[in-house]
Amino acid sequence: MEENQIPAHIGFIMDGNGRWAKKRGMPRNFGHSKGAEVFKKTINWCRELGVKCATFYAFSTENWRRPPDEVEGIMNLLRRYIKDIRAAAKENIRIIILGDIAPLAEDIRLELIDIMDSSKDNTEFIVGIALNYGGRDEITRAAKILAKKAEAHEIDPEHICEGSIEQLLYTSEMPPLDLVIRPSGEQRLSNFLIWQAAYAEFVFMDVLWPDFTKNDLRSAVTEYSQRNRRFGGI
Ligand code: FPP
Repeated sequence: MEENQIPAHIGFIMDGNGRWAKKRGMPRNFGHSKGAEVFKKTINWCRELGVKCATFYAFSTENWRRPPDEVEGIMNLLRRYIKDIRAAAKENIRIIILGDIAPLAEDIRLELIDIMDSSKDNTEFIVGIALNYGGRDEITRAAKILAKKAEAHEIDPEHICEGSIEQLLYTSEMPPLDLVIRPSGEQRLSNFLIWQAAYAEFVFMDVLWPDFTKNDLRSAVTEYSQRNRRFGGI
């Protein structure tokens, strides 16, 4: 595959953990735990393929509606993986957290802020982790910031353009999103990177996230490379 056929930025909706666990008669958190292992492997598979950035949907603004023990289980997984995320940050990998981390437990929040800050000059690869993230929430926040600036006469509302919003998104320092991969058979975006996905390609796969392999990634990227992206042109 030529370099321009490799997506620069892939978004992963890590779906199907619960069903994967249920099929094995195990609690849902067992599926999330397997899913987190696949998250870690996928980062390396992306790097091997020449992808520059991968964003993972780990916890949405809507996921608080899940039973408290499941929410706690996902938060504990994050705690467990902070060491690995820190190790990645030492390998010239930049970590960007997308979402409002204010409601997260203080220990997780402080670790994440520190990891983001200490990795901000890393250039080899970017890992995005969407946590308490919602695409509508992200755009609403941008609108609020622009409205306050207009009210303070710092900007002229007439000059607000797409770029003004883009600069305020969590992805402002990431390459444009080229591809969204959603395993588990569901075919929707579920409030994930809704602005950024305007011209992204989508690959939906039947595999459940804990079973996602390097070959699945390869086949999604191959499918992407065969798509004819026109960005509204002809
Ligand atoms: C969706 O599957 C998955 C989630 C809501 C959680 C994903 C989180 C992880 C894989 C852990 C992330 C950890 C780190 C370290 C980033 P689902 O539970 O909705 O599956 P189902 O549709 O089969 O019920």
